[in-house]
Amino acid sequence: MWQEHYAQRTQRMTNSAVRELLKFTEQPDCISFAGGLPAPEAFPIESVAQATQKVLCDKGIAALQYGPTEGYYPLREWIASYVSESGSTITPENVLITTGSQQGLDLTGKIFLNPGDTVLVESPTYLAALQAWMAYEADFIDIPTDCDGMQTQYLSTLLEANPKFIYCQPNFQNPQGVTLSLSRREELIELSIRKSIPLVEDDPYGALRFEGEHLPRLLTLSHRAQSSYGQYAGNSISLGTFSKLLMPGFRLGWIVAPMEVINRLVQAKQSVDLHTPMLNQIVVHELVSNGILEWQIPRITQLYRERRDTMLMSLAEHFSPDIRWTEPHGGLFIWVTLPIGMDASLLLQNAVREHVAFVPGAPFHIMGGENTLRLNFSNASIPMIRDGIARLGQAISHLSQPVS
Ligand SMILES: Cc1ncc(COP(=O)(O)O)c(C=O)c1O
Repeated sequence: MWQEHYAQRTQRMTNSAVRELLKFTEQPDCISFAGGLPAPEAFPIESVAQATQKVLCDKGIAALQYGPTEGYYPLREWIASYVSESGSTITPENVLITTGSQQGLDLTGKIFLNPGDTVLVESPTYLAALQAWMAYEADFIDIPTDCDGMQTQYLSTLLEANPKFIYCQPNFQNPQGVTLSLSRREELIELSIRKSIPLVEDDPYGALRFEGEHLPRLLTLSHRAQSSYGQYAGNSISLGTFSKLLMPGFRLGWIVAPMEVINRLVQAKQSVDLHTPMLNQIVVHELVSNGILEWQIPRITQLYRERRDTMLMSLAEHFSPDIRWTEPHGGLFIWVTLPIGMDASLLLQNAVREHVAFVPGAPFHIMGGENTLRLNFSNASIPMIRDGIARLGQAISHLSQPVS
């Protein structure tokens, strides 16, 4: 009976391939490279317990009461200074606290997208961004990528489609792990400003750099390009999150945008959840203002660097030379390209029999990508990575052998 009652937009809503897989990977003997889960041993449990105790004692009423939709002001101040770089001083009024950066993606769709509007996305891209904007009945055009991220030489032609915005993950992109080079960042900013197209920058992984130089945010480049230097009024909207730096369970993210966009986002957020939980905001403010990231970020980058290295070495040992993979300089993911004609979702069925899981690459694409897959290296221990990649190598060799 329900079928006839659903709104038309629900026809474009799908289950996330990753979240569906996560159910399977809860089996105890499964080695999972599927989810984008941080290492559980990196969670600062003791610090969170102490900070929560302190917040409840000192600021209990504010932490348990309703709060402003924009977010807890001292946390907005902290984020404004965290995202400010040379040539770009962001003010707290440009910051909206969100319930995870996933909410930022949804709110962005809510305020910008009419049915049939076009969004330009990297190919492949974060599948839950597609999922969020599909619900607003958007259409997508993909921009080819290589090891330096989005191939900006195609942009001027693609911008003729008059997209509502361009979605870009500049650092250690999910799913490929690649990073947009400085010259391409500059070209993207220059072209999008010239054509007055907003940019949505999604950067959950930028701080998790294992090697090489930090590159400026698109937000910063957009601010620097502003003709009159002052409060941020550029064309980039920048999403960030504490999920990968501290813990995803707090569901704490942010959006930085020009004030007029923040005002619209606040209206959109009010009807969703009124505001992000105050207790979580005040506890995280307590943690970050006491410098937790100064030891937490080096700790997790060291852990993830070792895990990435182990995965890269294991791939070289167990995968045949006709298989290619990315070598990310940070983040959580390696992207694997199988020989054309080999189907990663069939491979997953074999892999499941070997008790190992990954995410097939097709859902990260608008079209195609059947011979690709994403591997997460942050969540499994080093022995599990070695064992899991050996099992995956076995699963691939079974798939390549003709059935007799
Ligand atoms: C690119 C990207 N954007 C957004 C998110 C959502 O993160 P959260 O809602 O936990 O802040 C993720 C999570 O994995 C992601 O990879």
